[in-house]
This record gives sequence, C-alpha cells and structure tokens, in this order.
Amino acid sequence: MCQQATPCGMRRPSKLFAGAALLSSFVTAVTSADTDTDSSKRGIAYLGTNHNNDYNIFLSGQSPLTWYYNWSPYPVRNPSSFRNIEFVPLIHNIDSLPADIRQLSNLPSSSTHLLSFNEPDHGTSGGGSDISPSDAAGAYIDSIAPLSVANGGNFLISHPSTTGTLSGLSWLRQFNTSCYAINTTHGCHTDFLATHFYGDFPALASWLGTLNEYYNTNTGSDLPIWITELALPQMSAQRTERMMNTTLPYLDGLGYLGRYSWFGIFREENANEWTGDGVALLDDSGDLTALGAMYLGSGFAEGESANSSPGGSGGGGGGNKGGAVAVGGGSNLALVVGVGVLSCVVGSMV
Ligand SMILES: *[C@@H]1O[C@H](CO)[C@@H](O)[C@H](O)[C@H]1NC(C)=O
Ligand SMILES: *[C@@H]1O[C@H](CO)[C@@H](O)[C@H](O)[C@H]1NC(C)=O
Ligand SMILES: *[C@@H]1O[C@H](CO)[C@@H](O)[C@H](O)[C@H]1NC(C)=O
Repeated sequence: MCQQATPCGMRRPSKLFAGAALLSSFVTAVTSADTDTDSSKRGIAYLGTNHNNDYNIFLSGQSPLTWYYNWSPYPVRNPSSFRNIEFVPLIHNIDSLPADIRQLSNLPSSSTHLLSFNEPDHGTSGGGSDISPSDAAGAYIDSIAPLSVANGGNFLISHPSTTGTLSGLSWLRQFNTSCYAINTTHGCHTDFLATHFYGDFPALASWLGTLNEYYNTNTGSDLPIWITELALPQMSAQRTERMMNTTLPYLDGLGYLGRYSWFGIFREENANEWTGDGVALLDDSGDLTALGAMYLGSGFAEGESANSSPGGSGGGGGGNKGGAVAVGGGSNLALVVGVGVLSCVVGSMV
C-alpha cells in the first residue's frame, strides 16, 4: 500500500559549516537559547523493522515522546499504541500526490500537521524526492497550500524538508523564487518549516541559525522550525551520546524550534552503513542503548526494554552503564564526511 521505498534521506553532510558567516549565526543561535526545557517537542522518525515490540518502551506512559512520522501519510498499525501519540503525515513526492491527499481524509483529528516533499534536493536512491524547485512550487501551490488552515484546509503545513546543507538552502531560495513567480503576492504559504540535519552540535546550531535567519529574521516571520531527521553519523556510541547530551537541552530550550525526531528508533543491526551503529536507540536485543535511555530521559536506563518496567527495577539487563556521559565541548567544528548515499532498511508499512 505504501510504496515507500527508501524512507529516510541519507545524505552527505556538507562542508559548509566551517564558514565564518555560519559560525556567527551559530553564536547567535546559542546565545538566544534559554534554559527552559520542553521535552514534549521530542518525537519518533519510524523506519519500520520486524521488531514491533521494540517500540513499546517509546510508547509507554512514562515516555516523553509526543508524536511520530514515517515518511508517509499512512499511520503505523502495529503496535497499536502508536495511536496514543500524534501521527504527522508526510507527502513524500509528486508522483503519489493524488493518492496521498486522498489518504489524508482517513486520518484522526489528532493529526494536525502535514509535512511535504522529503529532501527534494537529494536523489531518490538516498530517500530524497529529487524535485526541481519550480516543479515543487507548482505542485505545492496546486495541492499542498490549499490544505492549510489558513486556506480553509485541516492542517498546519510545512514547506518541503531539504537536507541540512548549503545545497538545501539554495534549493529553498529557488523554491521561494518559483513560488513568487506563480503567486506574486503570497508565494507558497507555509505554517512551519521542517529540515534534516546530520552532524555535530555546533554545526547543527549553525544550520538552525541560518534557516531561522533566512525564514524569520530576514522576513519578520515567526515560523516554528522542526528537525525531522537528526543524528551524528559514523561516530562511536560515546561521541554520539556527547552530541545528544548537548543537543537535547539546547533544542528543548530554543524558542523557535518546534519539534524534533532523532534518527533513529531502531536496533544497531538496522542502522544503515551511512549513519553507522552509533545512532541507534536500541541494541540488537531490543534494549535501550545509553543513547536511547538519554532520548527517553529521566526514569529510563540503558538496558531496559519493553519487557522491563520503565523507570524501574526489573531492568532487562545491562544496568545503567551510560551514567557518566560528559557534556560535549562545543569546539569541534570538524565535519563528518559521508561515504555516500545508501538505501535504508525498507519497512513494511501496511
Ligand atoms: C495567492 O495566494 C493567496 C493566498 O493563498 C490567494 O488568496 C491568492 O488568490 C493567490 N493569487 C493567485 C494569483 O493565485
Ligand atoms: C521570497 O521571495 C519574496 C519575493 O521576492 C521575498 O519578499 C521573501 O522575503 C522571500 N522569502 C524568503 C523566506 O526569503
Ligand atoms: C548530560 O550528562 C550529564 C552528566 O552526566 C547529565 O547530568 C545530564 O542529565 C545529561 N543530559 C541529558 C540530556 O541526558
């Protein structure tokens, strides 16, 4: 039913983040974050594996996770506890637009947000939708913009989610130009923005600062920004834990940051070669990694699984080996250079 071939967008991180201009927006971004935390922004990017029980711990009553998406407009049916958190539909590309839009009418009223084209600046073999800015603008104005509550529809809608790179930004600029070429007064209406990011914390903060400057500061808008794919690829578990330890409080406290979802909620064995195993929230037994426990926050420990009680005593083994996670220094602007674009695990999504 869901012809979703390679749901996640794997991309090469760009070299852009070493730039001085971006460094300055990084500083701005960092200093403008306050210290409030709001872990209700946290969600799940669901890739789909054969291990359905693995998800229970992320969907348990104590879990702070409030929403999920799966790169499609079709909600996950199994486990059924996915119904307890908000499903955010995504229209992946132009080819499936008519069927995808019909499917939106089957969603529960708790689905109030809609994501559009996935990584249009990126090739389809890596999970992108490879759409030119002008084609995207035409389809967006015809089919997506009318779905916004501002236009009488049922959703808060987002512009296409590009890769977190300079080419992503360039795509968005051209998209905006194409939008205004079609509708000279309003361009392509959007209610919020969604982006992806793979890399270390300083580069992430820099990217967010850049997007916020482009969309909000420069135009006097106040659009929330979501990060719908987020990870530090190809690093050790410990490096990745340090990155997450710095990143979560930052994102939780950043006013314009609407929501985010880590990539990903799967076992190490289901991580693809491009991201590496360090990003996985579960080990190969389906127990929380130290990273997974951190993503779920207080009350959860490394080694717990759906079969052990969250927050508790009957841990599934392992204990909390990840207790001594140091706060990552913000000094490393070194770039993670991707080895290439790999397909993701294909989930049978129903
Ligand atoms: C431009 O968009 C606005 C808001 O969606 C709409 O009211 C208007 O009719 C559009 N103009 C054209 C020429 O399509
Ligand atoms: C998009 O283009 C319009 C028209 O040139 C411009 O007014 C607006 O600021 C641009 N939007 C962004 C986000 O740059
Ligand atoms: C980061 O690590 C410190 C020190 O171990 C810990 O107190 C804090 O709770 C961690 N933050 C997160 C978000 O896990």
